[in-house]
Amino acid sequence: MRRRAAILAVCLGAAFLLVGCVATPSSDLNFDPPEQTIGERLFLETRFAEYFAAHMTGISAPLAAGDPVVAQVPNVYAAPMPGPFAGQSINCRTCHFVDEFQGVTNAGNRTYADFTVRSPLPLPMNGFTNTPRNAMQMVGSLQPHAGFTLLHFDGQFGDPADLVRETFTGRNFGWGADQYQQALAHIAQVIREDNGQGLLASSYGGLSYATIFLGTASNIPAQYRLPAQYRLDVSSASDGQILDDVAQLVTQYMRSLLFQQDDQGHYVGSPYDIFLYVNQLPRRPGSSETEQQYDQRLLQQINTLSNPRFVDETLGKFQFHAQPFAFGSTELAGLKIFLSVATGATDGSQHAGNCAACHVAPNFTDFRFHNNGESQEEYDAANGAGSFAALAIPGLAQRSQNYDAYLPVTATHPNASERFRHPAATGSPQFADLGLWNVYLNPDIPNPQANLTSIVCADSQDCAVDQGLATTIAQFKTPTLRDLEDSAPYFHNGSKLRFTDVVMFYIQTSQLARQGLLRNSPVEFQSMSISQADVAALSAFLASLTEDYH
Ligand code: HEC
Ligand code: HEC
Repeated sequence: MRRRAAILAVCLGAAFLLVGCVATPSSDLNFDPPEQTIGERLFLETRFAEYFAAHMTGISAPLAAGDPVVAQVPNVYAAPMPGPFAGQSINCRTCHFVDEFQGVTNAGNRTYADFTVRSPLPLPMNGFTNTPRNAMQMVGSLQPHAGFTLLHFDGQFGDPADLVRETFTGRNFGWGADQYQQALAHIAQVIREDNGQGLLASSYGGLSYATIFLGTASNIPAQYRLPAQYRLDVSSASDGQILDDVAQLVTQYMRSLLFQQDDQGHYVGSPYDIFLYVNQLPRRPGSSETEQQYDQRLLQQINTLSNPRFVDETLGKFQFHAQPFAFGSTELAGLKIFLSVATGATDGSQHAGNCAACHVAPNFTDFRFHNNGESQEEYDAANGAGSFAALAIPGLAQRSQNYDAYLPVTATHPNASERFRHPAATGSPQFADLGLWNVYLNPDIPNPQANLTSIVCADSQDCAVDQGLATTIAQFKTPTLRDLEDSAPYFHNGSKLRFTDVVMFYIQTSQLARQGLLRNSPVEFQSMSISQADVAALSAFLASLTEDYH
């Protein structure tokens, strides 16, 4: 569960050659920064949920019966598994697991994701028994990068602390849109009245939140003593101040969740990373280079690599994956397809995926929004071929005049239909998931708008019309492709169970795009030319980005 120590272990275990790993300063290895450790405790806290508030006999008393939603963990690849938090209420970890299922067949370590298509919710809300989307992996979400940080598939949060506040007081914790004040008061009460004696507290030094937050008692061990900027006297602080502090601490924890890097910030965890290293290929952009320029430089150097040194188990070993630690000729062929941009005829035969146009190395995401066609595929499967193209979607004026008819539920609009942030359903053609469209220019979600506008208008060809609203239809945040084996299933709707399914999808949707049949088609698909012949290599390449996250 602790990342700092894990980095050293994996560097020594998986990548024998990397001097940078061994050189990690030893002060980092004694303990994690206290604000991250306390953030982790809050991430694991099960008493913030509505179910706990409704069933408790006291803040520090165990529940007579736990929330049934945490009793079992659904798994799209196997039978449901016993929940690690059974007998309690939901916490952040229930949908964002790490090492709870290490070594379990058809489960294993996770990069803060779960095992199902859409996560079960504590209470049915507006008809939803599950989250509308697949739980995102969280490792690397706050990886420093050029451009803005926008979180969730639809960019709802421009600030991680906002995400934490709204999640603890929102639907994922069982709180209805009209229960914000109740949720806030309850969370503040848990922090104020916790006596430090629960099971969770005992693995974090056995101190109450009040003592930890105040930060001054002489018996607080160094690894739990918060730096001054996070300290708060919860006996006199307002409920809002307490939630803000909780959000800052969880944010610091989230910042620590990164894929394995050496002390200079080069990725080192996967066979792919080791391949670049042993062949002295550039591992990240130069100081005056964009990531896109770096990707093309990398491709050029790979194309001229006369005698590549392949990665096998003499260079590393997986501890938590059955497959060999390998990057061979098939993976290399996949990497070339991944980086190559098709020119001229894009009939599918050019072995050019143009994947890096959106999944830009070395992070394998541009942290922006695109429509890769998944919402259309889901909608057409439920409602018939061509139906998504024909779906009536309002323009900005019509949408603004009828918030409840189109947009998601918020505290201001508790009765909104949420019909465009909903899985497609046969027999209910009003439902579709339009992704970013739900958030962009939504007056109830003001915080991310400035950053979203600059992204949408930079990408869009016709921002003059409705500030580009139509260009956001079915756009979702580009996920990283690092260590995907630990966050399956794939896409916002979890519809793809294997890498081969994903690649087949891209072959089909890029063909639809060429035929003019993909609604709001991304320009990047015009330079994608792949066929069945590329499936094995691209899938092997995706697997070579696996690492032993734990
Ligand atoms: C009931 C399941 C559930 C719970 C509980 C939950 N999450 Fe999530 N989380 C999700 C889902 C689903 C998404 C994707 C949401 C979307 O795009 O609509 C997500 C997305 C995220 C992301 C976005 C990652 C990115 O790269 O954009 C972060 C960060 C996150 N959650 C953190 C948290 C934190 C912190 C908590 C506790 C305060 C939490 N989650 C509780 C299901 C859950
Ligand atoms: C136009 C931009 C774009 C291009 C080009 C693109 N992708 Fe994607 N990719 C996305 C977006 C956006 C998503 C998320 C879609 C969703 O969740 O519905 C995604 C999702 C994925 C996922 C699932 C990741 C996860 O965590 O769920 C994989 C795997 C993937 N892409 C691989 C590829 C490959 C391989 C290629 C090249 C053949 C490629 N992508 C080309 C934008 C793109």
